Amino acid sequence: MRDIDYMTITDAVVSAYADTPNERLREILGALIPRLHDLIRDIELTPAEWRMTMDFLLQAAKASSDQRNDFILLSDLLGVSAVVDLVDGRDDDGATSATLLGPFYVPGQPDMTSGADLIKDNPGERLVVQGQVLSANGSPLPHAVLEIWQNAPNGLYTAQDPDQPEDNLRCTLRADAEGKYSFATVKPQSYKVREDGAGGKLVKASSWHSWRPAHIHFIISADGHKRHVTQIFDAADPYVDKDAVFGVRADLVKPFDQAPTDADKANFPDVQSPFNVVNVDWVLAPTNG
Ligand SMILES: [Fe+2]
Repeated sequence: MRDIDYMTITDAVVSAYADTPNERLREILGALIPRLHDLIRDIELTPAEWRMTMDFLLQAAKASSDQRNDFILLSDLLGVSAVVDLVDGRDDDGATSATLLGPFYVPGQPDMTSGADLIKDNPGERLVVQGQVLSANGSPLPHAVLEIWQNAPNGLYTAQDPDQPEDNLRCTLRADAEGKYSFATVKPQSYKVREDGAGGKLVKASSWHSWRPAHIHFIISADGHKRHVTQIFDAADPYVDKDAVFGVRADLVKPFDQAPTDADKANFPDVQSPFNVVNVDWVLAPTNG
């Protein structure tokens, strides 16, 4: 191992990790080490730039806690989280797109049934979201479970905002026997991802930006199907084609401004008019498909 130079270093390091007992970890390290070394050789990273990189990662670590993970934010801003989702879903033929979980999912949301009204004291435009959960073969998925969360008209999720009730604009909904679901809410808002840490430094240094288009988060679960983590996006949002974290997919962009039918008005008699409707069907991939 003394005969190490600019190129042979890579073989030496790969050999050192070649006996990693865990098969998957061995595969990952065997692929990662040569790519990492090639990257440094290709861009001719200087010692000063390497120290800056280490300082930058240290800042991300210092800003992180149980409630906040700046490494996830960096992964999102660099498109890495999106690539992981796209790889995971690449063979899910016929399924609706999955996309980022985001940092504001908090398990243990209140259970509600289809037709739930989440509006309560929230101001803002009223919105009814409705549709059906289906399998990739077109058959409905009875009693599918939909976990739903979004931000309030002030742009904040309840997990970020001590002034909101703990369960504001979040719920776990059970679809009916035909897989149909609906709920009333208020229009979500576009918002900026956190700019006060490493993520903010990255976007400022690169002239990228921090805005996410308005969206509602979903996790949909049904027996025999992949747990589906996704979002719907407001087609009219100015950031829908420049999401800071690359989470938008064409089939997840929906018009949030459709007028309700008479049936919609009858289904939601307690929702103050005027309100808009967005129709969203979800197609889940079978786990054995
Ligand atoms: Fe979000």
